[in-house]
Amino acid sequence: MIIVGSDHGGLYLKTALKSYLNRRGCQLIDAGTDSDASVDYPDFGEKVAEAVVNGDAELGILICGTGIGMSIAANKIPGIRAALVTDAFMARMAKEHNNANVLVLGGRVLDEQKACELVGAWLDGTFEGGRHQSRLDKITALEKKYSKL
Ligand code: RB5
Repeated sequence: MIIVGSDHGGLYLKTALKSYLNRRGCQLIDAGTDSDASVDYPDFGEKVAEAVVNGDAELGILICGTGIGMSIAANKIPGIRAALVTDAFMARMAKEHNNANVLVLGGRVLDEQKACELVGAWLDGTFEGGRHQSRLDKITALEKKYSKL
């Protein structure tokens, strides 16, 4: 299961990516937004991130105008590794090295074809584990060290 979410700045690209993901046979949840009305990206970042950490979805995709706000918001949720990517190499590395469980894209940065290419590279990548897992363990330790919860 993949959960997708966007603000108004990412709505067009989210709609296009849903078609691509459907063609790939992915099961999808759409966390919104579903209109052009201006909304606040942290609300949708939280919905997608929560679904991923709760296990309602295995992976998430977030889109705002640049991807910056969504990545900042999603990465506040412990357990989320949200990667903002702009090319296929970054997208593949986000899975292979960082095991990113949320991919973040900029709806005002990427065209539809490029965005599908990046999502494909991320989905097709395989986490390499080993030394990369040790680094992720250090990130988990940082979350614990600095968490006020
Ligand atoms: C909304 O105008 C815009 O700020 C938002 O989509 C995003 O780009 C924020 O990082």
